[in-house]
Amino acid sequence: MTPGMREPTTLDALETPAAVVDVDRVNRNLERVAAYTRSHGLGWRPHTKTHKTAALGARQRSAGAVGLTVATPREAEVMATVADDILLAYPPVGVAKIERVLALPEHVRLMVALDSVDVLRPLAAAAAERGRTVRVLVEIDAGMRRVGVTDPEAAFALAARAVELPCIAFAGILYYPGHVRDPVGDQGRPLHDLSRRVEEFVQALERGGLDPQIVSGGSTPTLWRSHEVAELTEVRPGTDVFNDRTTVLIGACGWEDCAYSVAATVVSTSIAGQVVIDAGAKALAKEEVRGAGGGYGALLDRPEVVVSSVSEEHGILDLSASDWRPRVGDRVRVVPNHVCVSVNLQERLWVAEGERLVDSWPVEARGRGRYPG
Ligand SMILES: Cc1ncc(COP(=O)(O)O)c(C=O)c1O
Repeated sequence: MTPGMREPTTLDALETPAAVVDVDRVNRNLERVAAYTRSHGLGWRPHTKTHKTAALGARQRSAGAVGLTVATPREAEVMATVADDILLAYPPVGVAKIERVLALPEHVRLMVALDSVDVLRPLAAAAAERGRTVRVLVEIDAGMRRVGVTDPEAAFALAARAVELPCIAFAGILYYPGHVRDPVGDQGRPLHDLSRRVEEFVQALERGGLDPQIVSGGSTPTLWRSHEVAELTEVRPGTDVFNDRTTVLIGACGWEDCAYSVAATVVSTSIAGQVVIDAGAKALAKEEVRGAGGGYGALLDRPEVVVSSVSEEHGILDLSASDWRPRVGDRVRVVPNHVCVSVNLQERLWVAEGERLVDSWPVEARGRGRYPG
């Protein structure tokens, strides 16, 4: 804020576009996942790439998370200010990244997921040089075909190498079920296949005398059926803290569970049949959605109104399914298709209780530079 400018205290006073978080909904989302994981005896290690804010990492820890998951060194540095157990669920390749994660404050118990000896070897050498122990999870490909060891015997061989190395502690396996995007009610078959695959990897390790204490999986689309996957010990959902239009379409939450929206203002109605708002690709992101009329987001209070196209700073609302006719200056709130990418475009999140703004959280972990800079 410029000195002398007053902070806005209500939603109407916000300059748009601005990211708004409904704090009651966030709290409800946190309580729901904490209760679900508790009732199924699963650990909860939320992925903080969705919110990238220390304030929310701290809330997740106090709601019962066993630790926090990150994808980048900067996320790790930010979350180290609020957590003492951090999982880097992304292979750290290159001296710069390895040095940075090993330089995290001493109070942090560090765990890293990787899928090759090419990543393990330099990590182990750097850890030994610093005398810092790093727990390692062998990442397996559970069907997404992105990263991960594809063969159970190869996963055993990598785990066995980890066991031999000084300053490396083999802790278990990790997978991300990003290929399961079916509606929640149709996930029975893919989750059954996933479960069989995870079991094969666990059995291969056990046959070789290794005990994977951690089997880390889970995603937001599959979150509420995670207990159907054999051997799973913990889940790492990220998106569920806010949810988004995609999560609603998959059926993993209701529209009323969407806790994040981009506040925007109608800036033009000049072209007949369309309305233009000041939230475009630089506020909402330009992520496609499968089904449900396409577009790049939908209005929080009128989900039938979709942002049908975006340019950088403009969003076009499709009013064909609604008789609502807004005027220039009217305010809307847009739920984006993919919340994580929209959050990454924001400097801060305005925290709302109804129409009142009660706080704002800087999105400290966006960007790549060191934190604190
Ligand atoms: C490795 C890993 N774990 C966990 C997550 C969180 O999943 P979701 O966004 O479905 O909540 C992601 C998401 O990209 C991921 O890549």
